Amino acid sequence: MTQDAVPPSVIAEEREDIAANTSDNPTMGDIILARLSRRELMSGMLAVSAASLAVSPTLLLAACGEANDPTPSFKFDELGAGADETHHVAAGYDADVLIRWGDKVTATAPTFDPNAQTPDSQSQQFGYNNDFIGYIPLDGASTHGLLVVNHEYTNPELMFPGVDPTAKKKARYDKITREQVGIEMMAHGGSIIEVRRDKGKWSVVPDSKYARRITAETEMRISGPAAGHEKMQTSADPTGTRVLGMINNCAGATTPWGTWLTCEENFNLYFWGKGAIGKVADTATLARYGIPAELAFWAKFHDRFNVSKEPNECNRFGWVVEIDPKDPTSVPVKRTALGRFKHEGAGNIVNRDGRFVVYQGDDQRFDYVYRFVTRDAVDLERPAANKNILDHGTLSVARFNADGTGVWLALEHGTGPLTKAGGFTDQGDVVIRARVAADILGATKMDRPEDIEVNPKTGKVYVMLTNNADRGPAAVDAANPRAPNRFGHIVEIMPDGGDHASPTFRWEILVKCGDPAVAEIGATFNPLTTSNGWFAMPDNCAVDALGRLWIATDGNTPAATGRADGIWALETEGAARGTSKLFFRCPIGAEMCGPAFAPDAETLFVAVQHPAEGGRGEPASTFADPSTRWPDFKSTMPPRPSVIAITRKSGGKIAV
Ligand code: FEO
Ligand code: CA
Ligand code: CA
Repeated sequence: MTQDAVPPSVIAEEREDIAANTSDNPTMGDIILARLSRRELMSGMLAVSAASLAVSPTLLLAACGEANDPTPSFKFDELGAGADETHHVAAGYDADVLIRWGDKVTATAPTFDPNAQTPDSQSQQFGYNNDFIGYIPLDGASTHGLLVVNHEYTNPELMFPGVDPTAKKKARYDKITREQVGIEMMAHGGSIIEVRRDKGKWSVVPDSKYARRITAETEMRISGPAAGHEKMQTSADPTGTRVLGMINNCAGATTPWGTWLTCEENFNLYFWGKGAIGKVADTATLARYGIPAELAFWAKFHDRFNVSKEPNECNRFGWVVEIDPKDPTSVPVKRTALGRFKHEGAGNIVNRDGRFVVYQGDDQRFDYVYRFVTRDAVDLERPAANKNILDHGTLSVARFNADGTGVWLALEHGTGPLTKAGGFTDQGDVVIRARVAADILGATKMDRPEDIEVNPKTGKVYVMLTNNADRGPAAVDAANPRAPNRFGHIVEIMPDGGDHASPTFRWEILVKCGDPAVAEIGATFNPLTTSNGWFAMPDNCAVDALGRLWIATDGNTPAATGRADGIWALETEGAARGTSKLFFRCPIGAEMCGPAFAPDAETLFVAVQHPAEGGRGEPASTFADPSTRWPDFKSTMPPRPSVIAITRKSGGKIAV
């Protein structure tokens, strides 16, 4: 299949994966191989003694007592792996559609009509491609709260009649209308909805005072070291402090003070102006960020997305945005202290010294794992006191040493090579060009770091490395040991002394993914894992109230792995460590996003993104002829990305 025959959304996914990191950071040789062999020997059941060092005696006893149970933590009957037109959940659970693309969000939203979409109606309805989900309790409740949801990107071939994903790019560009671009821009961003569980069932509270849509045109403030910077100034905003919209918001997080961190990922896809390369300043930085990728067609009608017309607009995207969902009039803030790259999520924890620590992945082949530590301590008593806490702190990037240790390298202007003499004017310049600064510091090139989450029970940090088909045998290192890495792996970070602000850490590989029955793949699931239980391409993850890890995948198709994406429960401690078990699976063409638990662990919200998407070995799929019409299954309704609420039929905590 030529690239022109692949749906644009899939080209987007594949093109964003093309490595932009041509830096010369070290890969490692024989020492690593020596270490790997030792580590391989220690994998599986033999790893128990090593793993137990980090486990509480209670957990250990529990694990020993249930040594014959393949998944002692997760009490549910495993679902069969596979792929079909609908979603499936383990027996004894309900998986109910809560909200779909086009459903009403604001009080004035019109009823969804896929054949009569307008930018205005979409700006009031639930957007496309729900990704991150955060649950923010109201009055501390686990049955009444706000859901904050990212809308990452659009699939025009599934959203609109008459879009031919197999047409040449120029033909698609020529055909697209201002109206369609407007709808796509309004389908991006995020939604805030109020939800309530009544008699066991969740529903969206109609006409909520909190209901809000954030779009690609919502006015936002820029704060932190890059605010007002010369490189942030545009003709529409000479102050460099205001920007319209957020784009390609992938994963995210919530904070202990009740805000939503929503993370801009593949913002480069929206920028045009290849003719400007070499003529605008700092072409090298543009290239390092893959700008302009010329994939979405917004620049046809909006000059700000053309770097030859507005060279600095692209510097105003690629940030973590903080939104206060409890104040519908609040202005979202781009927090530049956390750095500019292709953010996946913002997994976080309050460190034992009170400072707030955010772990971040830069999702591209050979890009990096970052950490941000605030300067000030969080005030858990007074949420408002943390309003600007994310504007001051230290951004660092990870180097994973071959001996299982690691170092956080600070991206701090005036230290090491990040000086005026080194070409960095100030801290604003460092965060705007965070990737370039991280290259110079010698960060470890990873296999596409996606979600990173902290387990508050153990202090361990889980890093999802989704895959990297480009890693060659000469480029393997201890933390990224497979070449190519088609199915991904998960790395655990243990901060030294349990201090998440420590400059050093230890790390281990938790599992190498893929089918363990195929020896060449080299997967390292615990042998107790069944043929349904292994997974590939870990992307998002969540830790539940019991400290258990749940994995959401992106990229499983019948052609790739013989299964749809879904949610797998993964044991992380004791004898069962590395055992995985399938809990939920998506309809065909969909990616699994957003896993978020209500605080009482009785509900798991998941986001089914791009159901019916074609490509990646699957046939083309369109509005007129989609591979599934999930979740409505009506001939007049296209497939619709939707949020699902999973609860136990008999009530109670999930998988207990
Ligand atoms: Fe939007 Fe890295 O997934
Ligand atoms: Ca993702
Ligand atoms: Ca992904």
